Amino acid sequence: MTGSSVAGKRILLIVAGGIAAYKTLELIRLLRAQGCAVTCVLTPSGAQFVTPLSLQALSEDKVYSDLFSLTDESEMGHIQLSRSADLLVVAPASADILARMAAGLASDLASTVLLATDKPVLVAPAMNVRMWLHPATQANMALLAQRGVSVVGPDEGAMACNEYGRGRMAEPPAILAAIQEQLGQARPLAGRHAVVTSGPTYEPIDPVRYIANRSSGRQGHAIAGGLAALGARVTLVSGPVSIPAPPGVDLVPIETAEQMLRACMQSLPADVAVFAAAVADWRVAHAARGKLKKTDAGTPQLELVQNPDILASVAALKQNRPALVIGFAAETGDVLQNAADKLARKGCDWIVANDVSPETGIMGGEENAVHLVTRDGAETWPRMDKRAVARRLASRIAVVLGTPATETSPLRGPG
Ligand code: C5P
Repeated sequence: MTGSSVAGKRILLIVAGGIAAYKTLELIRLLRAQGCAVTCVLTPSGAQFVTPLSLQALSEDKVYSDLFSLTDESEMGHIQLSRSADLLVVAPASADILARMAAGLASDLASTVLLATDKPVLVAPAMNVRMWLHPATQANMALLAQRGVSVVGPDEGAMACNEYGRGRMAEPPAILAAIQEQLGQARPLAGRHAVVTSGPTYEPIDPVRYIANRSSGRQGHAIAGGLAALGARVTLVSGPVSIPAPPGVDLVPIETAEQMLRACMQSLPADVAVFAAAVADWRVAHAARGKLKKTDAGTPQLELVQNPDILASVAALKQNRPALVIGFAAETGDVLQNAADKLARKGCDWIVANDVSPETGIMGGEENAVHLVTRDGAETWPRMDKRAVARRLASRIAVVLGTPATETSPLRGPG
């Protein structure tokens, strides 16, 4: 049912010091729910934030903390511990442990295991924004990246220390998605069907003229590609764009909003639908059959009528509603509030919201800075390449569709 790439895998989870350690408990729960074995190493500073007992209860395994504990050594030496997992994950990864990793220190069990391992390592940094931005931390991160260490986050947002900025540990579902990606063969959406809308719509005035918008289709097409890369069968319903459909997706080319609605409905059932198209809000009520001529009688009067709202129509379906209906919201102010209102108004599950004010440079640019708004709250993702936004969204979709329905929604933040 889950199709998860983490089922049957082993993670060695190193919990370093940081207030974000409480989120690691949720990560363990998610990993266990996906059938992944988790063994924890708790650093002394990590133990200031979570107890060995809570890690042990959730991981259902022994928790290791002391390099020189005879009991630990008798059960499993640190070298063996470092190699028995498929992947080592450091979450939260404090500035201190990242520095020790970069320096190659082996001063405690966590750093020793990280030095001794021959397995891939993923870190989820969590620290104050100044510590993250400090050249020392940035140099350490660059060095670790050079050595093949992968990183997820940190995210931007309010911090426990009352500051705002980048440094919050990535949310557990995002870390799970990164773990799935790391564990390779990730086709968690195999057997799933996704419908994605993309591009503009063209609304005819007459046989040669139309009303359109500047949508390039870049973000929608990237999402279609991201979902296909995770194994989904993807139907891409797109208005006219100048970019090719990503490999492996079924393209349904349309021009008008009404055609887009019909194509979407015909593509159902689907497990997930992502509405990234810039659908024209209005169409010309009575498009002329023949080309309108310039006459002395003056300019033609175009009567506009409202187009169907495709996102809202699919979200409102009683039968065949995809389990996950996702819309976009491009705003120029009050982004989060407007997105939350849109979520309620359209009846969808998630809204990917972004601020497209001219000063952000996002419109027409390569990068995007989005908030993922759900019924349970909002997450701010760091500014990243539009394809990276697509990959991350696809991974998040995979986390939800790959989690047994009886589990709590993994998007429910830990408070
Ligand atoms: O209402 P607004 O256009 O701001 O909503 C944007 C979201 O709704 C996008 O996800 C867009 O693809 C979708 N939409 C739609 N059909 C419309 C208008 C918008 O699917 N007619």
